[in-house]
Formats: sequence, structure tokens, C-alpha cells
Amino acid sequence: MVEAPAPDPERLSTLESSWNSRLLGVLEEAGWLEGASETLMGWLQPLLAAPGAARVKDLLHGRWLGHALHPVLTDAPIGFWMGAAVLDLAGQEFAAGLLSGAGSASAVATAVTGLADWTVTDGRERRLGLLHGLVNVAGLCLQVASLGARLQGRRGAAKSLSYAGLGVSSAAAYLGGELVFGRGLMVNHDAWTAGPDEWTPVLPSPQLPERVTRRVDLRGHSVLVYREAGRVYAMEDACAHAGGPLSEGEVEDGVVTCPWHGSRFRLKDGAVMRGPATFPQLRLQARERQGQIEVRGRKG
Ligand code: FES
Repeated sequence: MVEAPAPDPERLSTLESSWNSRLLGVLEEAGWLEGASETLMGWLQPLLAAPGAARVKDLLHGRWLGHALHPVLTDAPIGFWMGAAVLDLAGQEFAAGLLSGAGSASAVATAVTGLADWTVTDGRERRLGLLHGLVNVAGLCLQVASLGARLQGRRGAAKSLSYAGLGVSSAAAYLGGELVFGRGLMVNHDAWTAGPDEWTPVLPSPQLPERVTRRVDLRGHSVLVYREAGRVYAMEDACAHAGGPLSEGEVEDGVVTCPWHGSRFRLKDGAVMRGPATFPQLRLQARERQGQIEVRGRKG
């Protein structure tokens, strides 16, 4: 009897578990995506480092909205293009052309927000995100070609290109869904954490000097504790953006900066002062009692 090969310990188990995860595994490990990602990041670097870029990025990430902006906008082009396809089937070609144009215009705005989110990804997510973007660009090109054919009165070609574009964009949407629901990209990494109801000692007081960040273990997950001007602060250590260790970040003026992509959170209330995070950081209550730093989950 032939024994099944031993699983590769270096390979994520999620890439082996189903046909679609195996397919995605092949795609996201493609070497050319890594090279293309580096090239694109090189091109974007001057823009990302330009004065005022942080504010523009915050706008594009959706910090003002309280969650990621890109997924909100993705409904627009898909909805317009789907409407155009239905109207084409119904023989309403002028109206279909209007929706097709609106879909292509909204796709450009959607792509810009997606590109902003992509610049704060790493590794597999960055490669899969680039593939998602490239497939979307292909879908947009087909829709623009469809619009051009409509304007030239080539109705058959316009419809075919529109249907093909919709199919390609749907494949890109699948990859986008995998990034959000399968990988947790731009979702709140602290969404299911609440902290204990009762005060729990986490550190002897002398081990928390003023203005020094410490990571402590609270029932199996990490919490950042910090003391300044006699007040003790505590918040989830895993950054709400992508889980970066806030305890390894700098604190300045009561604001901690994530070492991974630079999100900034106010210690007193967890508010996001700068993205790419769009969700506030979960804060816990903290105090010093009988020589111990104690923490508990926030009430309300
Ligand atoms: S993990 Fe991305 S900013 Fe913290």
C-alpha cells in the first residue's frame, strides 16, 4: 500500500483543505506576482512618501467612515454592469450603454481605494491582492471596449464584450471575497475579543516603568499595558488593521503607532488617529492595586 505523502509543515493547512484553496495556493505562490508587486510598490513609493499622502490614504482607506471604503464601492461597478447586461438582454441598448459607462467610471474610483488598501498588505495577501487588481483591470478593459463598440454602433460586439467583462469582474470579486472573508484583510482583528469581567492581575507594578510599553498575557491573548503620569492604559496588542504587535510600537503624546503599517491609536479611548486601520482599537480598563497591574474588559 502506498502511503500518503506527509503534509508539508511549511505550507498553510488552509491551502490544502479544498479544491478552491489548492487553486488559490497555486495562484498566490506564483513567483511573477512577487516580482510584479515589488515593481508596483517601487512605482508607488514616491506617491506614498509625498507630503499630505497620509491624509489622502486615510480618506481612501475609509477611516472617516469607520470601516473600509473599498468593499462599499465595489457594489457600484458590479451593479451597474449587471444592470447593463440585463438591459441588453431586454433590448434596451441605450439604457444599457448608460449603465455600462457609469459602471466603468465607478470602477476607476473603486480601483483607487483598492490600490490604497493593497499598499498595506504583505506576503500572500499582497500577491493575491495584486492578482485581484489585475483581473479587475482586465474586466474594466473589456467594459471600456464594450462601450467603444456601442458608440460605433457595433451592437453584437458591445454585448459580447460586456458579458465577458462581467464574467471576468465576477472572478475578480471572488478573489476579493477570499481576501476579506478568508484572510481577514481590512477587517477588525479584535472584533471577537472582550476581556474578562473581573479585575485580573497581569504584571507586578515594578515591571511597568513610566513610558515603557509592555506586552502581557491575558488568558491566552496579548494585551499592551502602558503607564504615563501615574495612569495605566491597556488595549488589545493585536492591531485592529492586520494584527501587528502594538507593544513593539512607539508611544508619543498618548498615541501608539503600529510597527507594521503605521496605524495610530489613542491610548485613552482606542480612537484611530491614522490609518490604514479603520476600526478603533479595543481598549481595556486598567488599574494598579496592591503592587499589581490589573486589567478587565470594558463595560459598555
Ligand atoms: S497591522 Fe497594519 S497598521 Fe497595524
